[in-house]
Amino acid sequence: MSAEIPETMRALVIEQLKKPEVQSDRPVPKPQAGEVLVKVAHVALNPTDWKHLDYVGAPNSIIGCDYSGNVVAVGSDVSKLKVGDRVCGVVHGGKFPDKGSFAEYLVTREDTTFVIPTSLSDADSATYGVGFGTAAMTVFHDQGYSYPSAEKEQKQGWFLVSGGSTSVGLFTLSFLRLLGIKSIATASPHSFDLVKSYGADHVVDYHDKDAAIAEIHKVTGGGVVGGLECVAGDENFDISVRAFGEKGGLLTCLLPPSDKAKAIREDVRINNILLYTAFGKSFEFLPGKPPLPAMPKDNAWFTDFVKRAGGDSGLMTKIKSNPVDLQSGGLDKITNGFDMMRQNKISGQKLVYKVSA
Ligand SMILES: NC(=O)c1ccc[n+]([C@@H]2O[C@H](COP(=O)([O-])OP(=O)(O)OC[C@H]3O[C@@H](n4cnc5c(N)ncnc54)[C@H](OP(=O)(O)O)[C@@H]3O)[C@@H](O)[C@H]2O)c1
Repeated sequence: MSAEIPETMRALVIEQLKKPEVQSDRPVPKPQAGEVLVKVAHVALNPTDWKHLDYVGAPNSIIGCDYSGNVVAVGSDVSKLKVGDRVCGVVHGGKFPDKGSFAEYLVTREDTTFVIPTSLSDADSATYGVGFGTAAMTVFHDQGYSYPSAEKEQKQGWFLVSGGSTSVGLFTLSFLRLLGIKSIATASPHSFDLVKSYGADHVVDYHDKDAAIAEIHKVTGGGVVGGLECVAGDENFDISVRAFGEKGGLLTCLLPPSDKAKAIREDVRINNILLYTAFGKSFEFLPGKPPLPAMPKDNAWFTDFVKRAGGDSGLMTKIKSNPVDLQSGGLDKITNGFDMMRQNKISGQKLVYKVSA
């Protein structure tokens, strides 16, 4: 490795489940074929980070998915990225000893890495990770909307985002606005203005379920044709499934539905997506269960999306970052952010930490 790249680094590691530790002597990973080494500038937190730490992660793995930073070395067969490029994206943190983003350096595949548009700061660009990728997977891969183009007509009808102020919800609303799709979202009243500013045409309060369902049907003139359930739980599925119009449709969801939720309406198909399948490799997700198979179609979709999203003319320039709540303390204080998320104290904000200049 070159003189400027040290042999060891600091990283936030799962020592064992529920036991995080900042270690100072982790080996700096070496980029393999098709991979780049990134010096991490900022990282953003997602619920999946603390869920890996507490429940599904692997001991000795580095936690963290979202990052922004600079390419400092490239492996063989890397054709587009070069040393010095500003990049951001998502890695599957909490499962592997050399892959997580809550570290001074990370390795990532070139074809799943976004080139940061010059207009975006390092802190803002760190939010284009799990939330951004999952929103895109919902809209373009699962729901089948077309990328913006003058020639292609989009499916018509209202789309529901249940959990409009979540990280995934805000990115999804931005994509829908870009495509000209009418959207209705659920959120708490304190989030209404934010959710509208990201593109929702109408927002309803989810706390009164029956009133929310009635308002959705009234505003949309008979119900939605597609939807995303960001939060899950039977109460939420009750709203998002019953929000559909008489023809039913596809409800994408981010956490598995219960049998009760699946039984609400036969004409509303609920599909649980998982962004990690976009990396195209088999992996063990739930400890003790068989590994999930590789999903080449998801990977092909994602690598194509990455090309469309990055750079100065890509989709990232048209889709707002999540609102950033910049925290102090770097890697040493990230577990404070986990506590805030565990206690449901995060609303319409992305916790971001600076790792290095
Ligand atoms: N399958 C996947 O690949 C995937 C990918 C990303 C995330 N996820 C999962 O999806 C969930 C959302 O993740 P995220 O990072 O987008 O969330 P987040 O930003 O951490 O979510 C916080 C928001 O949740 C909203 N909320 C809480 N309860 C709600 C309810 N009953 N109905 C509507 N909104 C509610 C709050 O809105 P108000 O303050 O307005 O009430 C708050 O703004 C997490 O469970 C995460 O693990 C899965």
